[in-house]
Amino acid sequence: DTLLALLRHAPKAELHLHIEGTLEPEMMFALAQRNGITLPYPDVATLRRAYDFQNLQSFLDLYYAGASVLLQARDFEDLAWAYFQRARADGCVRCEIFFDPQTHTDRGVPLALVMQGLNTAIARARRELGLSVGLIPCFLRHLSEEAALDTLEALKPYREDLLGVGLDSSELGHPPEQFAMVFAAAGALGLHRVAHAGEEGPPAYIWDALRSLHAERIDHGVRCLEDAALVAHLRQAGTPLTVCPLSNVRLRVVQRLEDHALPQLLAEGLCAMINADDPAYFGGYLMDNIEACARAMPQLGLAEWHRLLDNSLAASFAPDTDKIAWR
Ligand code: ADE
Ligand code: ZN
Repeated sequence: DTLLALLRHAPKAELHLHIEGTLEPEMMFALAQRNGITLPYPDVATLRRAYDFQNLQSFLDLYYAGASVLLQARDFEDLAWAYFQRARADGCVRCEIFFDPQTHTDRGVPLALVMQGLNTAIARARRELGLSVGLIPCFLRHLSEEAALDTLEALKPYREDLLGVGLDSSELGHPPEQFAMVFAAAGALGLHRVAHAGEEGPPAYIWDALRSLHAERIDHGVRCLEDAALVAHLRQAGTPLTVCPLSNVRLRVVQRLEDHALPQLLAEGLCAMINADDPAYFGGYLMDNIEACARAMPQLGLAEWHRLLDNSLAASFAPDTDKIAWR
């Protein structure tokens, strides 16, 4: 298919990707063996069959359990390097990747070791793949703001390695306003601010992420369409929405990809683009998401595809000089 070939080779950015969500079952078993851990699944096939999610929480339970095999700097390095090679093959020129520091520090893995592993892989991706990478630690919203403030404090020595901060984990019952102080502190450090909102949560959480956290991008944001005033605001402000189509289907935010709001978001003039979220768990990396959308959304024409890829580059926090060079 010529459209798909064109899309694969066109420069693009991945802006919503959790590095822990790129842990493929094969690597999970390999790292478990290397680290002397016994997984509660006999083999890769059984583990994969468990990836049948009812909602965000049922996924998060497995995702946090899976991360338990990441113990050494080398584990984080191998994980990230495997992802960067896939991203490059998908035509990515820029990756702004999330990681969850608390998922590791809370089980006794030092932040220094996480940073060392990720930084080594990032340097290699730049050197060997020409890939531009930014790192965004996310605060876990099912934990307290005090815990998030402690995490920000622990991240301060690595300030120069970080692009911004994000907010993820269980959305319902954990409104963004609960993290206003830690986001203000991150802003004072000159860090960019993004937040998951409007995935399972209501449009009010998107308003809240904008007003309480000063979020520059909304991760997911698909439920904005339920609030016309919010849509008008997002359009006028040009706020990017990092949409994750296969994730939304697998977590039952939408029933079928054919029903996904992506075409409507574009029709509303919003700055949406396609992202992978947790590709090892949701059945696909960036090009898999793009291909699935191309098939399920025939109403997306060449102009819309151009817009989606262009939005990904424009919404990145890369320097303007890079953005010009990619076009
Ligand atoms: N952590 C990893 N993926 C996530 C998602 N889609 N929503 C919230 N938290 C997450
Ligand atoms: Zn996410």
